Amino acid sequence: MSIGHPHLVAEITEEILRSGPITFARFMGLALYHPLFGYYMRQTEGISEEQIGWSGDYYTSADVHPALARALARQIRQMDDLLGRPDPFTIVEMGAGKGLLARDFLAACAEATDSFRHRLRYVLIEHSPAMRACQQNHLAPWLDSPGTVSWVNELEQSPTGSVTGVMFSNELVDAFPVHRIRIEQGEPKEVFVAYQDGRFEERLQALSTPDLSESLRRLASLGVTLPDGYTTEINLHALAWMKDVARVLGRGFVITIDYGHTAQDFYGPDRPKGTFLCYYSQMASESPYSRVGLQDMTAHVDFTSLAVTGQEAGLHVTGFTNQMSFLMGLGVEQMLESLEPGSAEFQSIIQLLRPEGMGRTFKILIQHRGITEPQLDGLQFKPFFGSALAATAGSNTDVNR
Ligand SMILES: C[S@@+](CC[C@H](N)C(=O)[O-])C[C@H]1O[C@@H](n2cnc3c(N)ncnc32)[C@H](O)[C@@H]1O
Repeated sequence: MSIGHPHLVAEITEEILRSGPITFARFMGLALYHPLFGYYMRQTEGISEEQIGWSGDYYTSADVHPALARALARQIRQMDDLLGRPDPFTIVEMGAGKGLLARDFLAACAEATDSFRHRLRYVLIEHSPAMRACQQNHLAPWLDSPGTVSWVNELEQSPTGSVTGVMFSNELVDAFPVHRIRIEQGEPKEVFVAYQDGRFEERLQALSTPDLSESLRRLASLGVTLPDGYTTEINLHALAWMKDVARVLGRGFVITIDYGHTAQDFYGPDRPKGTFLCYYSQMASESPYSRVGLQDMTAHVDFTSLAVTGQEAGLHVTGFTNQMSFLMGLGVEQMLESLEPGSAEFQSIIQLLRPEGMGRTFKILIQHRGITEPQLDGLQFKPFFGSALAATAGSNTDVNR
C-alpha cells in the first residue's frame, strides 16, 4: 500500500529530519491541509467529488437527501423571527465542502414570500480551493443576486461581533487536526511522529503544550479520568475555533453538527483507543501512516468541551440533541407522509433518521448569545442525553433553558 502523496511525504519527512519528531496534530494538519499537497488542498479537477459523495472516500448527510437542509431552513427561519428579523440576517457556513447544504438551504428559502430572502446574506468559509470551486458551481443560480452569497477566506478575518444571525457547520470540527495522547504509568504522554527506515513511526514524548495539560485538568473536573494504556484525542483546534466563533457572533445562534459525544462518553471505557479514523473509498482504517494526503482523517467531537469553551466566551447552550430528534422536531414526518414508502427518496430520508446510524451518531449543539431563553422546534424532542451538557457546564449557566 502506498505511503502517500510523494511530494507531501517528502515535505513531512524533511520537516522531521530537520527538527525531530512532530506532534500527531502537526502530522494530521499537514496530511489534510498542506497548502499544495494536503488531502483537502490539492486542486485537481473533480477532486471534491472524489473525496465527498457516493463514489468518494466518504459521504455526509448533505449527499443523502436535502431533508437536513430543509429542516435547517425551517429552524433558521424560526431563529430569524426570534431575533426580530434583522437586516441583514447573516448565515456563516464554515467548511461547507461541496456546498450542497447551502444549495438546498437556499432552494428551500427561495419559496419564502416575506422579506427573509432579501435580508439573507450567506457567507461561506472554506479552506479547500477545490471545494470552493465546487461551491461556486452549485451556488451559481444565486450569484446573480448581489450580496446574497459570498466567500471569506478565514474566520479570523471577520470583525468581532459582526454577525447577527447564525454560524453553522456540518462535519467541520471532525476534520480539525487532533493531538493524540496515551496514559503511561499514570502520566499523559503525547504521540509524536518520527520517520525511520522509509516509514512513519510513533514515539511517545512529553506533552507539547500546556494547553493539553489544561484540557486534561478540565476533563478531570468533569469527572473524566483516563486509565493506563488509554489512547485518545484532544482537539485543541476545536476549542480555538469555538472561541473565534464566539468572538465573531454579535447576536444569534451557533449550530454545530457532527458525530460526537459528551465528554463522559467520548472518554469512556468503550473507547480505549480513541475515535481517530481514516477514510478511503468508503472504507475506514486506523492507519494514518499510509496513503498520507490521499485519504481523509477524522476524529469524533467532544461536545462538552466545545460547550464549556463557548460558555466561557459568552455563548449559552440552547440545547444538545441528535439528528433524528432534530429532524423530527422540524417536521420530517410530514415530509415522509408525502412520499411512497418504498421510494428511493423515502429510503434516503430514513437513512438520515436511522437510530443505529446517522440519526443518533450525528449530534447537534445549538448555542446562543444576545437573546433570552429561545425555544427552538429542533430541540423539542430531547434524547436521553439531552441535558447531559447541563450537568457539566456549571451552575452559573442557562443551559437548556
Ligand atoms: C468533512 S468536510 C464537510 C463538508 C460539508 N460540510 C458537508 O456537510 O458535506 C470538511 C470541510 O471543512 C473544510 N475545512 C476544514 N478546516 C476548515 C477551516 N478551518 N475553515 C474552513 N473550512 C475548513 C475542509 O476543507 C472540508 O471541505
